[in-house]
Amino acid sequence: MSDMTDKPIRSFGRTGGRPLSPRQRKLVDELLPQLRVPPDTAVLAAPLDLFEDKVSELWLEIGFGGGEHVSAQAKANPQAGIFASEVFIEGLAKCLSDIDDMGLSNVRLWDEDARELVDLLPGHCLDRVFILFPDPWPKKRHHKRRIIQPPFLDALARVMKPGAQLRFATDVRSYADEALVTFLAHGAFDWQARRADDWRTPPADHVRTRYETKNLGDIAPVFFNFVRKT
Ligand SMILES: C[S@@+](CC[C@H](N)C(=O)[O-])C[C@H]1O[C@@H](n2cnc3c(N)ncnc32)[C@H](O)[C@@H]1O
Repeated sequence: MSDMTDKPIRSFGRTGGRPLSPRQRKLVDELLPQLRVPPDTAVLAAPLDLFEDKVSELWLEIGFGGGEHVSAQAKANPQAGIFASEVFIEGLAKCLSDIDDMGLSNVRLWDEDARELVDLLPGHCLDRVFILFPDPWPKKRHHKRRIIQPPFLDALARVMKPGAQLRFATDVRSYADEALVTFLAHGAFDWQARRADDWRTPPADHVRTRYETKNLGDIAPVFFNFVRKT
C-alpha cells in the first residue's frame, strides 16, 4: 500500500473546493488551532487529559464528512472524549460550527490523514472507533485507496482496547464484501452480527448524515459492528 514515500496511498479525494463563509474562516483560523490534537506522542500518552472536562472514554471517528455524527454523539455521550478526523476543509468548518453552536467540550479535531493520528496513539487507548461510509473508490483500479486494508487494521488493533467496539458502514456492495472479508481474515476483530437484521438495520444510536441520506451507493446501508478481541 506504500508508494515511493513511506506515506500510505491517499484514501481521500478533494480536501477543499468552495470558499468558506466569513464565520467558517474565522472558526478555522481561531477555533481549530485550539481544538487540534497535537501531533506529539508525549502529549498523546495521556489522551484523556486533552479534554477540558473529565471524560472516561476515548472514541475516534475517521473521515467524519460534515460532522453531523460526531456532534450528535458528543452531545449524547459527555463521558466520551472524541478524536474526530477529516481532511476536507468544508467538513471541518461545518463541524467547527456545530461544536461552537452546541458548546461541545468533548471533541478534538485532527485535520490530517487519520492513519497518521492512529500511528501516534499509545497502545490500547481507544474504547470506540467509527468508520462510516468511507470513500468507496468503486472502480476496481482504485480499490487500493480504500481505507480498510490489512496494515490499517493492524494499526487499529494496536490502539483499540480489548473489548473496544468498531463500527463500519457502507452502501457500496463491493466495499461491504471486501471490508467484511478483510476484518474477518485479520483475526483481531469479532463480528457481532448473529442475524441479518444486525447488519442491515441501523444501530439504535446511529446518527444519519447528509451524505448517508444521498444514497449514492448501490445497496441499502450495512452496519458492521466489531469488537476487538481480548
Ligand atoms: C464519503 S465521506 C463520508 C463522511 C461521513 N463519514 C458520513 O458518513 O457522512 C468520507 C470522508 O472521509 C474522509 N477521509 C477519507 N480518508 C481519510 C483519511 N485517511 N483521514 C481522514 N479523513 C479521511 C474524506 O475526506 C471524506 O470526507
